[in-house]
Amino acid sequence: MTDRSDMTPHKSKVNSSSDDSKSTFSNSASTPRNLDQDTMPAIDVRSIEKSYGEIQAVKGISFQVATGEVFAFLGPNGAGKTTTIRMLCTLTKPTGGSATVGGFDVVKQPTAVRRRIGLVFQEPTLDQQLTAEENLRFHAVLYRIPHEEVETRIDRVLRLVDLQDRRKDLVSTFSGGMARRLEIARGMLHTPAVLFLDEPTIGLDPQTRALMWQDVLRLRNEEGVTVFLTTHYMDEAEYADRIAIIDNGSIVALDIPDNLKKTVGSDTVELTTSNNGLAASNLEAKGFKVKTSEDNIVVFAENGEKQVTSIIETAEVPIQSVRVHRPNLDDVFLHFTGRQIREGHNERSFPMHFRGFGRR
Ligand SMILES: Nc1ncnc2c1ncn2[C@@H]1O[C@H](COP(=O)(O)OP(=O)(O)OP(=O)(O)O)[C@@H](O)[C@H]1O
Ligand SMILES: [Mg+2]
Repeated sequence: MTDRSDMTPHKSKVNSSSDDSKSTFSNSASTPRNLDQDTMPAIDVRSIEKSYGEIQAVKGISFQVATGEVFAFLGPNGAGKTTTIRMLCTLTKPTGGSATVGGFDVVKQPTAVRRRIGLVFQEPTLDQQLTAEENLRFHAVLYRIPHEEVETRIDRVLRLVDLQDRRKDLVSTFSGGMARRLEIARGMLHTPAVLFLDEPTIGLDPQTRALMWQDVLRLRNEEGVTVFLTTHYMDEAEYADRIAIIDNGSIVALDIPDNLKKTVGSDTVELTTSNNGLAASNLEAKGFKVKTSEDNIVVFAENGEKQVTSIIETAEVPIQSVRVHRPNLDDVFLHFTGRQIREGHNERSFPMHFRGFGRR
């Protein structure tokens, strides 16, 4: 028997009033561009909680994700990322609060939610002994994709992740990155409105992570899907429309990447000169904020790159080196949590050559 309550979306609207006293961020700064008063959010989470006995995995978090947004959940091991995804995908029942996905309540209308979502688990789940196509066909049967649509959808999703040529190959012959991209294709096969990706890039080399992000942005741009993904890689989170930083079961910051970076201060221009003392006093005389150390001087400047010429001219001494530092998400994470996301973990080699691929 069909449960009618599972077919009618909950009538919550973006920015409708919420007495969520735990939320520490203003809507104005963190509202994505295509969100307005009358648009129902793709994901609406209100004070959701999950405890396992004594362990409070998720401590009453609230956020909304707009339709067509790429939303990243950034946090260290054990922060509560997978637990949140599992609650939103109806696999784990919250112990408090509520959430809707596509307008449907994850506890009261799980069937409707499941019809509208695609999920790529943190752990790989492909059948290694089947080909790419066979894995997709199996999924098509599970999701009851109409027979006449299956072929077109398989072609489409394989193209989205650029794996058309490997269609007939066994998954056991795939690289880790190819397998992960096939999982994303599979998650898209039944045209979900919202795609959940739990650590889609974990363990992949920087080149493959870049390709993965191209896929994600292409899905968003061409299929209009809303993407909720988790990661602990700072550099790649920047490509999301918005980022929530989660630590110890709580969201400690949520905003667009640029605003998050602004919270940790302005750019700095580091100079080494033939006479640091004189350079510093010349700069201070012209109103620059300067910190002098034994080896160099640091000038605090909005849009540091654009001000380099004027800083050098104002210093009026020979310059030996110049370095502009722009606050990055490492600084943001440190600022909000008091520690590095991964001590000693080098994330710097991620290629940025596909900047501009997305909408931004
Ligand atoms: N089924 C469970 N039973 C008991 N505790 C659990 C269970 N699932 C998760 N936890 C605990 O909840 C907390 C959050 O775990 P979760 O898997 O959500 O973290 P995560 O952010 O996804 O971490 P990772 O980056 O390592 O995947 C952890 O302390 C974890 O041990
Ligand atoms: Mg996890």
